[in-house]
Amino acid sequence: MALQRPKGTQDLLPSQTAKWQYLEEMMRKVCREYGYEEIRTPIFEATELFQRGVGETTDIVNKEMYTFLDKGERSITLRPEGTASVCRAYVENKLYAGPQPVKLYYIGPMFRYERPQTGRYRQFHQFGVEVLGSEKPVVDAETISLVWDLYQRLGLKNLEVHINSVGCPSCRADHRQKLQEFLAPRREELCPDCQDRFERNPLRILDCKNPKCQKLTQGAPTTADTLCEDCQGHFNALQELLQAAGVVFRVNPRLVRGLDYYRKTAFEVMVEEIGAQSAICGGGRYDGLTEEIGGPPTPGIGFAMGMERVLAAIEVQKAMPDQVERPFVMVAALGKEAEGKGFALLQALRHAGIPAGMDLLGRGLKAQLKNADRQEAKLALLIGEEELQKDSFILRDLSLGEQQEFPWQDALALISQRYREEHGS
Ligand code: HAM
Repeated sequence: MALQRPKGTQDLLPSQTAKWQYLEEMMRKVCREYGYEEIRTPIFEATELFQRGVGETTDIVNKEMYTFLDKGERSITLRPEGTASVCRAYVENKLYAGPQPVKLYYIGPMFRYERPQTGRYRQFHQFGVEVLGSEKPVVDAETISLVWDLYQRLGLKNLEVHINSVGCPSCRADHRQKLQEFLAPRREELCPDCQDRFERNPLRILDCKNPKCQKLTQGAPTTADTLCEDCQGHFNALQELLQAAGVVFRVNPRLVRGLDYYRKTAFEVMVEEIGAQSAICGGGRYDGLTEEIGGPPTPGIGFAMGMERVLAAIEVQKAMPDQVERPFVMVAALGKEAEGKGFALLQALRHAGIPAGMDLLGRGLKAQLKNADRQEAKLALLIGEEELQKDSFILRDLSLGEQQEFPWQDALALISQRYREEHGS
């Protein structure tokens, strides 16, 4: 039996990679405009980084990590997300010693052993942004505005931007206690996972997808009810800044993120049309994380978006511009000598920056012209026996069906001129 790719992974074929490149270019462009620089960290890290960074009580660390021992008996994990790695790199490379804040972005594959379904993969790709070194709400507003601007630029509609504040360790302790008091009489009715979460991380119960748990938590105290003065002030300032920037958002007091490191701001962006896995972006503030992994206390905020899901949203909303690069001219040569002459011209055209192609299967003239049509080339340049003799060529406009003969020496200049006329340069 022919071998197949592992479950939850994808082959991205040329018809798709063109769309990926479009998306990546747009992301890089917006990052440049906002003053974010790219960071590339390893695909695998010491397992401990994620245990300490992402958190022992999360599904990611408990159930979803690709962890193995390498030949040196070290426990290694394929990165399930990028934030912990970026914080590690910030500390390890002493980026805290330079000007602050440090504004970084990354694009790359992440790995989670989840149950594959539409929009959920075991290898998926994130575009993420992390800002380290500022605790000010204006940074929260900047990152959320970047997400908003990018989606506007991509032409996405029906976005739901939800924001919340999950508080800091001091107001969280208060919330935890109130939530446990609320849930205690219903504890036995919660799903087994949530019974487990009751002691370890009750906040996550608010995020459980089980309909019964959702019903049981109706009316439960939210983090927004227990924010301390500092967290409330931060949250208010963020909302004012977002309004000033024209970002359309909604405060969702039940928004709880699936990773342990969040403090104060948490946010998600949803596009319902792409199905059950509708979160195209998630992020928030993580002021304790850098310290947690052994660095100096450093505030941080960021987000990551699942690129497969962003592309799915672009696809359902038909917002993808045509990505196919068509040859401007196809050289159709007949016979060995003509082929040599045609090939030299083909290369000269390419060196002049003109997308050009040639038959690579030794087909007859009719098949070559048919191929040029199929590729939606604008022009075909023909050289056969007769043209060789006369040192000429025939230029055929494939859309008009008209053709004309020219001296060979004019070929490059003529096609270059046509190309410039067509492309306005
Ligand atoms: P996250 O919410 O776990 O956050 O993931 C961010 C986004 O990655 C999700 O909203 C979703 O679009 C995409 N995603 C997650 N898992 C999958 C999957 N299995 N298949 C396809 N797409 C997926 C983080 O990863 C944080 N590191 C975000 C962050 C950065 N917070 C602060 N800085």
